[in-house]
Amino acid sequence: MNQRVAIIGAGPSGLAQLRAFQSAEAGGAEIPELVCFEKQSDWGGMWNYTWRTGTDEHGEPVHGSMYRYLWSNGPKECLEFADYTFEEHFGKPIASYPPRAVLWDYIKGRVEKAGVRRYIRFDTVVRNVSFDAATRRFTVTVHDFGTDRSYAEEFDYVVNACGHFSTPHAPTFPGFDTFKGRILHAHDFRDAMEFRGKDILLIGSSYSAEDIGSQCYKYGARSITSCYRSAPMGYQWPPSWEEKPLLERVDGNTAHFADGSRKKIDAIILCTGYKHHFPFLPDSLRLQTNNRLWPLDLYKGVFWENNPQMIYLGMQDLWYSFNMFDAQAWYARDVILGRIALPERDAMHAENLAWRAREETLVTNQQMFEFQGSYIQELIDATDYPSFDIPGVNRTFLEWKHDKHENIMGYRDKSYRSLMTGTQSPPHHTPWVKALDDSMEAYLSTPAELARAG
Ligand SMILES: Cc1cc2nc3c(=O)[nH]c(=O)nc-3n(C[C@H](O)[C@H](O)[C@H](O)COP(=O)(O)OP(=O)(O)OC[C@H]3O[C@@H](n4cnc5c(N)ncnc54)[C@H](O)[C@@H]3O)c2cc1C
Ligand SMILES: NC(=O)c1ccc[n+]([C@@H]2O[C@H](COP(=O)([O-])OP(=O)(O)OC[C@H]3O[C@@H](n4cnc5c(N)ncnc54)[C@H](OP(=O)(O)O)[C@@H]3O)[C@@H](O)[C@H]2O)c1
Repeated sequence: MNQRVAIIGAGPSGLAQLRAFQSAEAGGAEIPELVCFEKQSDWGGMWNYTWRTGTDEHGEPVHGSMYRYLWSNGPKECLEFADYTFEEHFGKPIASYPPRAVLWDYIKGRVEKAGVRRYIRFDTVVRNVSFDAATRRFTVTVHDFGTDRSYAEEFDYVVNACGHFSTPHAPTFPGFDTFKGRILHAHDFRDAMEFRGKDILLIGSSYSAEDIGSQCYKYGARSITSCYRSAPMGYQWPPSWEEKPLLERVDGNTAHFADGSRKKIDAIILCTGYKHHFPFLPDSLRLQTNNRLWPLDLYKGVFWENNPQMIYLGMQDLWYSFNMFDAQAWYARDVILGRIALPERDAMHAENLAWRAREETLVTNQQMFEFQGSYIQELIDATDYPSFDIPGVNRTFLEWKHDKHENIMGYRDKSYRSLMTGTQSPPHHTPWVKALDDSMEAYLSTPAELARAG
């Protein structure tokens, strides 16, 4: 019987898996039967924006955590697909920090060209996965919202590409029950205009805190206070933004911090990260990890050590993103096609522990993205994914970090050279802090076109 592969999710990781197989088929390989289950009605995963929060139209937890006006928080040159460049997609070089809609368009362009939409069953949520040790096959049970029917099918491999930035990690603090303003998690943040003229408190000191605070500043919040558990973000914030040690409690509308200071606030946004949450998986197949560069139990960061027919994509903390998912998907494809043989479990485990030991020595940002880069290099060296300049990407990450420290509200005005084409990206026509229209049309316009449009 022909082998069958189930892919859970049609976000960048699941789409990378489809594209990897399609590219092998285009090269003459016989590929297994592919079925990608996607609970939303369109592809692109996190990049497929939804206004919804809470539960979706089917009563499922809303997947999307992206918000209006979100722009890439890293240079697009660091995530560019090696087999489909921005220049190929847009027909011209574009600036380095595209808004969400532009990146979504780019993600879609590659898979439209590859013709893989036919493999996807949209509006279909995976509810359960089980594994039969005797037949060595999985049973995947899904619910099709179109017909409102559940059904189950058998597969030889399951690729879990469902993402890990959708289920909020949401701690509570004393006084939250009686706080007089709004409390929400970053997952439910949609429109910074809601906080115009307000004094907001952000809890957390990572990308969500940095970017949601910057959005709220840009769209007119009166003041921003952010507070940290481990370390401050340490950027040169505008005068209306102060960084404090962790919140201790709220009392009415007053927030009290660990250094004894206090601040009147209107709203609290928990920027406290997300959980790897796979309710459809049994314990025996379920990755349990926090957000880190080397989760344990995944050989090559991909294969579930105790049963390598169970595959995970994109589960690492992300410096690299789209091209890392590609590297993983190409490798997983080649194992499924029998082009790469996996070692015995003990050898996989030993290698895994060695990566984890290396991960634990990392201190600086540079060490972290170089670590992830070396991991990706190892994967792509083993497959026919187009080789690209990983040291060059690392240098771009370094420049990006430097640019952020120079000017946190201005770093998105910088531009970099593509590591795929060598083309220098043009600067964007409008400084980020003044670019209130984040539509694809506005972003891709030339200054002359913008002037004509008035
Ligand atoms: C606010 C925010 C901003 C970000 N900004 C950037 C950025 O600027 N640059 C960057 O590189 N990365 C960014 N990321 C990281 C982002 O998660 C990745 O770029 C990328 O979307 C991960 O791809 P993925 O396919 O692994 O997961 P996702 O994009 O999350 O896609 C997973 C897919 O699986 C589907 N799914 C989930 N559960 C099921 C189920 N049970 N059954 C069927 N389908 C299911 C979902 O509907 C979704 O379509 C951001 C993340 C967040 C939260
Ligand atoms: N495009 C964009 O602009 C954009 C915007 C937002 C997010 N993102 C992406 O989204 C992903 C997730 O980022 P994230 O910032 O949401 O999550 P994250 O990077 O995992 O960071 C979680 C933060 O929450 C803090 N935290 C956790 N528990 C806490 C507690 N009990 N009390 C106080 N603080 C607590 C952590 O502090 P410690 O350091 O103490 O652990 C950390 O600062 C990243 O990949 C990021 O790139 C991108």
